[in-house]
Amino acid sequence: MLLNEYELNQNNLEKFKYLMSSLEKEREQDRHTILIVDDEFNNLQLLKRTLRKKYNILTASNGIEALEVVQKEASNISLIVSDQRMPKMTGTEFLSKVSENHPYIVKILLTGYTDLEAMVDGVNKCNLFQYVSKPVDPHDLELIINDGIGAYELTLSKNTLLNDLRELFFTTIKSISSALDAKDTYTHGHSHRVTLFSLIIAQEMGLNDSYIEEIETAGLLHDIGKIGVPEDILCKPGKLTDEEYCIIKQHAGQARKILDSIPSLKHVSLWASCHHERWDGNGYPNKLKGEEIPLPARILAVADTYDAMTSNRSYRKGLPHEVAVEEIKNCSGSQFDPCIIEVFKEIEDMFKEASLYPIKYYNKYSRLNKALQDEDISKYSEEPVMKMEIQ
Ligand SMILES: [Fe+2]
Repeated sequence: MLLNEYELNQNNLEKFKYLMSSLEKEREQDRHTILIVDDEFNNLQLLKRTLRKKYNILTASNGIEALEVVQKEASNISLIVSDQRMPKMTGTEFLSKVSENHPYIVKILLTGYTDLEAMVDGVNKCNLFQYVSKPVDPHDLELIINDGIGAYELTLSKNTLLNDLRELFFTTIKSISSALDAKDTYTHGHSHRVTLFSLIIAQEMGLNDSYIEEIETAGLLHDIGKIGVPEDILCKPGKLTDEEYCIIKQHAGQARKILDSIPSLKHVSLWASCHHERWDGNGYPNKLKGEEIPLPARILAVADTYDAMTSNRSYRKGLPHEVAVEEIKNCSGSQFDPCIIEVFKEIEDMFKEASLYPIKYYNKYSRLNKALQDEDISKYSEEPVMKMEIQ
């Protein structure tokens, strides 16, 4: 063989090896990863040999070691096969710890004898996919594992579908809210700021996450009734006549008519329709009084008023933060719920900071954004919003 031919063949061989290893890596990335936990080395090796053609395999010889593997690799692990009788920690103890943080990992327990206690623990604490008595033929176990992986994929696709629906729902709500804010040129960004201030209050009050998520939706949609208000009234550059004010006031009741048709927005619909009710019963549309007004609507009322007072209008400039805060405190017990004003007093400086950097703080407080993705707020370099001082 000529030297050049030899070099050519060597080059081709290297290329072939490279292609094969790339293909192998891609295959490994697509494959499910299984963690096998057993203190008997021979069992571990036998299972590893049987399963490695189809799955990526991780192994551990006891529960403590296995927990360390789970801590590092949890996002890659689809299924765990664990022996029950092991030193340091039993299989059910190990699997129940995994269940606490990783309920979607499919779990299979192997045991050498009919252990009733392990079976009960498996069902109650570990959310077991299957309990298998040893000795088990590795190929029979492979079939059980294949079924487990099928169940894992089904859960995964169901969750993906639910997340897609959730994302569609939230982005639709945000789009409606942005469209509303765009309709009224003098209060641009109002719905988002009211939502942000409501989130700050709700978080300070220690309300739970799902409640706060609904309050966020209510904030974004609280003025949805303004869709029906003519733009020449909504954007009128001057004070409104009594008749025009009556038309504007209808937006609160209209919110309920619009949102009531969506079953998942039942609470949001009620809260949005009550954001102009007053603690003393002199609000609108229904003159509700005190605790007859739902708590989220009482929160929205404070947030809405703060934003209305500090925002510029065509006929007046926005009030400075300190003046707005004093005015709101003075209305405790008349316009506003005194308990919410006590919370507001503690956090009013956060309102000032949040109104300067609304995007950064919205991403910090938003539950809807968190549900979609974990935003890194440090990536926002936002210029502070300039507010005109009163002259
Ligand atoms: Fe309103």
